[in-house]
Parts: sequence; C-alpha cells; structure tokens
Amino acid sequence: MCGIVGYIGDREARPILMDGLKRLEYRGYDSAGIAIIHKGRISITKQVGKIAALEEDLNGTHLPGTLGIAHTRWATHGEPNQTNAHPHTDGTGNIVLVHNGIIENYNALRKILGEKGHTFRTETDTETIAHLIEEFYRNGTTFEEAFRMALSEVDGTYGIALITKYEPDKIFCARKGSPLVVGIGEGENFIGSDASAIIAHTRNVFYLEDGEIAVISKDGFVTKTIENELVQKKIEKISFDLERIEKAGYPHFMLKEIYEQPHTVADAMRGRLIEEEGVAKLGGLTPILHNVLRSRKIFITACGTSYHAGLVGEYMLEQYCRVPVEVEYASEFRYRDPIIEDDNLVVVITQSGETADTLAALREAKRKGATVMGLVNVVGSTIARETHGGTYIHAGPEIGVASTKAFTSQVAALTLLTLMIARTKSMSAEDGRKIVKEMKDLPVKVEQALKTADLVQAIAEEFRDKRNFLYLGRGYNYPVALEGALKLKEISYIHAEGYPAAEMKHGPIALIDDDMPVVVIATQDSTYEKIVSNIEEVKARRGRVIAVVSEGDDKLDRLVDYTIPIPMTLDLLQPIISIIPLQLLAYHIAVMRGCDVDQPRNLAKSVTVE
Ligand code: AGP
Repeated sequence: MCGIVGYIGDREARPILMDGLKRLEYRGYDSAGIAIIHKGRISITKQVGKIAALEEDLNGTHLPGTLGIAHTRWATHGEPNQTNAHPHTDGTGNIVLVHNGIIENYNALRKILGEKGHTFRTETDTETIAHLIEEFYRNGTTFEEAFRMALSEVDGTYGIALITKYEPDKIFCARKGSPLVVGIGEGENFIGSDASAIIAHTRNVFYLEDGEIAVISKDGFVTKTIENELVQKKIEKISFDLERIEKAGYPHFMLKEIYEQPHTVADAMRGRLIEEEGVAKLGGLTPILHNVLRSRKIFITACGTSYHAGLVGEYMLEQYCRVPVEVEYASEFRYRDPIIEDDNLVVVITQSGETADTLAALREAKRKGATVMGLVNVVGSTIARETHGGTYIHAGPEIGVASTKAFTSQVAALTLLTLMIARTKSMSAEDGRKIVKEMKDLPVKVEQALKTADLVQAIAEEFRDKRNFLYLGRGYNYPVALEGALKLKEISYIHAEGYPAAEMKHGPIALIDDDMPVVVIATQDSTYEKIVSNIEEVKARRGRVIAVVSEGDDKLDRLVDYTIPIPMTLDLLQPIISIIPLQLLAYHIAVMRGCDVDQPRNLAKSVTVE
C-alpha cells in the first residue's frame, strides 16, 4: 500500500525521486521520506502528511547526490508520524531502507535482536529488517549475503529498496508479495512500486518476482533468488503513455476517469467482438480455453468494486451459460476452505493486480486444482502473472482511489466472457449478434449518461449534508446499488448502504423518514413494476427518492423527488450505464463537502496487505 522509488545514475536524484513519489502518492499518503547518499554520507529527510509537506521541508535545503530512495506511506505498524515515516535505519545509521508490506514476525525478531543489544527507535516492523541485516553483516558476511540471510528470516510481505555506506554505489532491492519494478535507462536505473513512478524516464522494465533480490548499479544489475541462484530477467516495454497518468485539465483524477469511460469501455471490447458470428474472442484465455468452456462451476473472487463487478458477472454467466456461479469476497474465500473441484473455473477480478487478499485467493484456488483466470487492469501485475490465463480490461492507469472506469470495463469484459462461453453452449448466433450490437452501442450510451452531470450536481447540492443514504436495485442493478453506495462512502465519508430493493422491507425500511435519501435504480427491465412498488413503500414513509430511470420514462415523475434519465440497453449491460450518475453523485457530494476526492482518508489504491 506504500509507494517506493529509487534512482541511481549521474543526474541529481532528489527531483527524480520527488516526482516519482508524487506519481505513487495514490498508494499511501500519511507520511513520506527520502534518503540520498553523497560522498559516503546518507542524508535522510522525512515528514508526516502528504508529499507536499516533505517537499516544503526540503525547500531551501541542499541535498546533492545521484543515488537515493524514497517512500510514501500507508501506515500498518506504528501511527503516521515523523519517526515512523520511512526510510528506516539500523543502529549505526549505515543501512537505510524503505519497505512496502508487513513483517509478520517482527516482534519475535525484535526480541532476539534486542537481546543482542539492538535498540529500536520506531514502532515499525520495517526497522527490524535494517537491524537484522546489520546483525548478519557484523558477523563478517558480505553485505549482499547479509541482505539475503536477513530476508530469509523474515515472515510476511515486502518490497524493499535499500542503500548503504558499505556499498555506496548500489541499491539493493527485494520482493515478496509487494510489487517492485526496475526501470532500465542509459547509464541510470530506476525502481518503483509500479511503473507510473518511472515511466517519465524509461519504458524498459523488469518485474521482481517473489523471493528475488536485485543489486542495481548505474550501469547494470544482478538478479538472484534469496538462496543465491542467479535469475535472468526479461525486459518488457511499458505500453501506456505518461499523459495517461496526468489530469488532462480535470480538477480530479476521479472525474477524468469517469469521463474516460466511453473510450475505456470501447477499449475493453476492441478487437474482441466478431459481429457477424455474434461471438467474442479473448486471446489471453487460449492456454486454458478448454477448461474455461468446459468448467462445471465458476467461482468469482475479488474485493471492493471488483467484487461488485463479479456480482454482475454471476447474473449474466448463470443466465446465459447455465453454469452455477458463486461470488466470494477474496478475504473470506482464502480462509474458508471452499469446495473446489478440478473442473471448476476461478475468476479473480482486480484493477491493480496486487490486492493481497485476491492474490492469496488465487493461490488457494490453484493449490486446490482449479483453473484460475484473471480479469486484470494493470499489465504485468503479480496477479496477472500468476493466473493460468486471463484478460486485460485495458482501462488504462486508474489513479483515483475510488475505482470508476475499472468497474465498467470489468463488466464489459465479463460480458465478453459470457458471450464467448454461451455461444459454445445454447446461445444462438442471432442472440449473440444482439448482444454484440448492443455492446458496440455502449460508448455512445455512456456518453449520453454523462450528460446527466449538471442534473446530478444539482441533486448533490440538495443532499450534500445528509448523514445516511440508502441505495436500492433489483437484478443486474442490485450490484450497481452496492457500488453506488461504496462510491459515496469512500469519498464523502457519508454512511450509505446498498440493498436488493425487495430486501428493504425486511429491515432497512425502519431507517426511512423524510431525512433519508433513497437512490433507486429503476430502469425498465423485467423487474420494473416490482421496483415501482418498492419506491411507493419508501414514499409511504416520506423517504426522499432519487430515481435513475430509462430515458422517456416519465411514469415516476410525480412519485419521486428526482429522476435521472439514462439510455436503455440489454439488462446484462445496463450496469455499465446505470452506474454513471451514481459515480457523478458521489463525486459532486464529496467535492461539495471539501473531501479529498482522489485520496480519501484512510484508503489507498491497491491494498497489498491483508
Ligand atoms: C474501490 O473504489 C476501492 N478502491 C477498493 O474497494 C478496490 O475496489 C478494492 O481494493 C479492490 O482493488 P483491486 O480491484 O485493485 O483488486
């Protein structure tokens, strides 16, 4: 959840490290720090708060040096303060490192090291690693050996970058569970928790795998396993452009990403639809196609917004492929010992490709013999590399912590999967062509739904000070209600619940009075009449109803407080359009409440710890 950057070369390290940190700030932003080695002396500066606070601290200071590491933190052990901010050092101050992850056995290690005379200055698990390396090094090993031996004592997850006076012209890196990418330049090299930290400087990268270390100098690198076996690394080219991670004139990344959706939905389908045959083809599944098509049960596992997309996937896969589907929170799936047969397919859905619970669920499913496919956004991410096969959703970098375009691209990709499987079963070419045609019309319809922005902003003005919201939907729109509630919760800090509309009278209806806004997704699908009755139940308790309705449907105008008309499409595709006004509602309410929309409190973009 933290962000790590490193640079070694001939250029001044400070501006490169600070720029890299800013690009990683969405990963964690409660404190930050930088360490640069120059003429054998390591200068460390760290500050609580955002990168801007560290930058302010550095203003006017001279921090020369062409080799350094930096870190932006999402605290797990030790509260966010200057002392606990990274980098951390050993007792001598000669070993300095930054870390992303959790050291689970740090207390036990601290006890052992304490008995050997080590004193600890912080509450962090990370500091333990520095002292552990110090301990091995002072027992006469080479520094690299000390580094590897220390890591073999550590339980937990880590992405580490380290500099030391003992090897002043190298950066030592290691990875286990937390991502680390190395960028190869001309006479300089870069390290980042993800490619966005280094793309401004190079497109040539390699990814460290679990259990690997890298010793980076300015003209080269050596990669090994912790057990000292040399590892050859494949240099890959980063595909996305720098401007894809800029705001492009929008006030927030979240709003930019909401407005990117007509394009990103199109990109998710590009080259994957064969209209005349009414089929979809997903090249990334070729290695496992037989197992995917013949799977007798499908599990979908994910977290947060990706889980909500999975719920939409369940509805369509069962409706069109007649295969039983179970959708599970990855954090439950990984520990509940699910019954998995070897003819089962497990679909892991993740935007970042680094979510720890989802990664563990993937590994559990593989251990139990399932075929595991990924629906992933970040190219080259850990989950993408560990599945048996998968599909990239091509939504481009998603910087805003609140996921928006990834959701609509995940649902589009799930529809492609459904179409691909269903056309090998009972779905006719004609029905397939109908779905393909509607999919091709989606970008225009999403564009149309974005035109409700002014209306939604006016509604947001009315409800910006409410303390609670209820979101209701039926069928394919039920997961949309959950997702709409999640968006409002995570960026405006208003308590909101999503519910199947019919479930309301089994409890939540007790919450309804004239102070309770109720957002209802009431598009004209097979359950329309039922949802109208649910709205009447809310109105009977004087609830304030904001209804998302189908364009041209004025039946609800007199019944509800506000209607937001959106284009119609097939039920299975409707979530891609219905979610748009709900994303905008959450965004405008959060902006009006002065919340930090792109970096909401207590959250981070990819949750790499469990
Ligand atoms: C959604 O807006 C949140 N950022 C969060 O719930 C997110 O969806 C969840 O952490 C899963 O992330 P992933 O898709 O990258 O695995």
